[in-house]
Amino acid sequence: MNDALPSFACPACGNPLHVWRCNPCNASYPMLEAVPVLLPEPEMALADWRNRWRLERQRLYAEERRASAAAATAAGIAAARLNHLAAALAKQRACLESLLAPMLGNDRGGARETLLGLRTRLPGHHAVTGYATNVLRDWAWGQPETLAAARAIRGHLPEGATTPITVLGAGACGLAAELGRERPVVALDSNPLLLLVAARLLAGTTAEFVEFPTAPRHLDDVAVVHLLQPPPATNVQPILGDIRFPPFPAASLPVVVTHWLIDVIDLPLGVLAATLNHVLEPGGVWINQGSLAFTNGNPAWNPCLEEIPEILRASGFEMLTCSEEDQPYQQSPHHRQRRYERVVTWSARKVGAVPPPDNRSPDWLADGAQPIPLLPAFQAQATAVRVHAWIMSQVNGQRGVDAIAAELSRQGLMPPEEARAAVRGFVRTMFEEMLRSGD
Ligand SMILES: C[S@@+](CC[C@H](N)C(=O)[O-])C[C@H]1O[C@@H](n2cnc3c(N)ncnc32)[C@H](O)[C@@H]1O
Repeated sequence: MNDALPSFACPACGNPLHVWRCNPCNASYPMLEAVPVLLPEPEMALADWRNRWRLERQRLYAEERRASAAAATAAGIAAARLNHLAAALAKQRACLESLLAPMLGNDRGGARETLLGLRTRLPGHHAVTGYATNVLRDWAWGQPETLAAARAIRGHLPEGATTPITVLGAGACGLAAELGRERPVVALDSNPLLLLVAARLLAGTTAEFVEFPTAPRHLDDVAVVHLLQPPPATNVQPILGDIRFPPFPAASLPVVVTHWLIDVIDLPLGVLAATLNHVLEPGGVWINQGSLAFTNGNPAWNPCLEEIPEILRASGFEMLTCSEEDQPYQQSPHHRQRRYERVVTWSARKVGAVPPPDNRSPDWLADGAQPIPLLPAFQAQATAVRVHAWIMSQVNGQRGVDAIAAELSRQGLMPPEEARAAVRGFVRTMFEEMLRSGD
């Protein structure tokens, strides 16, 4: 590890780490090749990511089979497109398996149905390939976008600073590698695929990665195999971690950068700000850049720009600079769509210390022996799942919608007319999902 980098702390207890080991916790943090896994329960988190990868691998395989089957009955350009797609899906499965190899070990996992039932199907930012386009933007065709982002961030850095920077939610580390050309950078993210791609490139090795544009320009653009290239000399240490449990000593970091993070992380902005306040040194600077596309179900979590100085003030920050500019966003040359985003960049100085927020999971989640409380949302979900399972158990190759609806209303669960519409809607949704997924 580079001596100029900040030191690290145990994400579980906050005590200093010695070569990735926490003596008070009697715990050693594992490495995925050059990537330390500084998560509070690293083995549990890696097992969870392996399950997510199994689902993704099965999805890629199902899509490949579907494209091959369609190619077998197609002719001319359609057959060429479908064969090209099937081969590219097989290629991507192999590429990802190779990139994730340090995490997979002796990979044996639950059946697809069990994984689906256990909701390993996740929101985009928790899926293995949820940010595949960021990999391509960072390492294939997006250098102008990375340079535009770096230029705006450099404009907000403290004068002449060559102090270390910690990029949180660094993704595939393209921006971190650019900023690391003039200073040491720690790049933390919670997604192992993004960091394993970055680690491979930062070690000077190329990597293959396939792009599947949703609006391909031409036949060859339906699937494009890229050979990702290592960056020029840079100084970046990737860390697999979770910002909610920052693996840094209190008051230790001079500069943190968040880039396209604040509106996707599962924390309200004020709590994220207090978390960053805790790890920044007195007078330390937080630079943020990205969109303000907050979409939380709770509108209180979705601030607009004018609210942000107040939120920062309440979390011990003073906003120093704030600017806006239109930036190109993920403009693949293989894609027909072109997006621009009105990006906000601000810098804020830590002017006071606020108590660190308690981002820990509830005890019943952390300790498997504790009873899980019957929360209203869990209760509602349990009822919904029972109804779901009951309807599916009625599908036996003999009963029709009317018979199932009649049984539903006979049990007093719904009036007959509503039951018919509900059962038909439910079965139609299952059928349409099957068509979409290619099962
Ligand atoms: C919209 S992407 C932006 C990534 C990168 N900054 C870029 O612009 O390409 C958000 C990133 O935040 C990461 N992320 C989300 N929640 C996180 C958390 N709690 N801790 C660490 N990383 C997180 C995701 O894995 C993802 O890479």
